Amino acid sequence: MILLQINQLSKYYGAELILSNMKLEVQNKDRIALVGRNGAGKSTLLKIIAGQISHDGGEIIKPKGITIGYMAQDTGLESELTIWDEMLTVFTDLIEQEKELRRLEADMARPDIFENETIYQKVLNEYDTLMVAFKEKGGYQYEADIRSVLHGLQFADFDYSTPISTLSGGQKTRLALGKLLLRKPDILILDEPTNHLDIETLSWLEQYLQSYQGAVLIVSHDRYFLDKVVNLVYEISRNNMKNTMVIIVLI
Ligand SMILES: Nc1ncnc2c1ncn2[C@@H]1O[C@H](COP(=O)(O)OP(=O)(O)OP(=O)(O)O)[C@@H](O)[C@H]1O
Ligand SMILES: [Mg+2]
Repeated sequence: MILLQINQLSKYYGAELILSNMKLEVQNKDRIALVGRNGAGKSTLLKIIAGQISHDGGEIIKPKGITIGYMAQDTGLESELTIWDEMLTVFTDLIEQEKELRRLEADMARPDIFENETIYQKVLNEYDTLMVAFKEKGGYQYEADIRSVLHGLQFADFDYSTPISTLSGGQKTRLALGKLLLRKPDILILDEPTNHLDIETLSWLEQYLQSYQGAVLIVSHDRYFLDKVVNLVYEISRNNMKNTMVIIVLI
């Protein structure tokens, strides 16, 4: 399944042509690296795909409903919340559903409802439907997912009630990554995610990305990391004073 298609894309900054004739296709399960020298336009292309900046020519085709998650180069999570509460914000919908389930349970225990067969059946049906949806969306799983991601990103020994504002830059970067992974977007876009990661976190991330259910698009200068994770490499390279795209096929 094609998740994203880019044709003839171009981008100017002022009078300078930064990207021209970019062509890229992302299919489900693809593990794509975007490489090129410093200033080649890798981050610019990712920002365009993520919808953060505009482009000047060409087209981006994305089927309705396909979700994109993007982590910019050198960004950390800025938040007033604690580690745990911030991770919970990814699951607001599920938490709301959980409250609704509790509310329906309380309703079913009310004498005026359970003594009225018709009304009771109606509430029970609503409860069943909501329960199935809650389960399917991972309602019984999300807290374990948060723990697992925090563990992988070396927060196992942390008190999860620590305010994020008190953490270091590197820790904030890892949390930004963690939050994005928990969102599980169809296309996961990471701009140099391995900067400031230690060996243990790196190898956890490698494994996580290898088994990721969606597609992954990564910019990284870390060849060793890319070798472990990607199966397709696009290089942005300069010819005729323009940056265009070359596909490097991996063996
Ligand atoms: N907001 C901007 N305004 C003007 N020029 C910009 C802007 N952002 C980037 N550029 C220029 O566009 C070109 C591409 O930048 P970009 O950040 O996309 O490169 P990159 O491939 O990600 O580089 P790096 O490997 O250093 O991260 C560079 O020449 C850069 O100076
Ligand atoms: Mg960049």
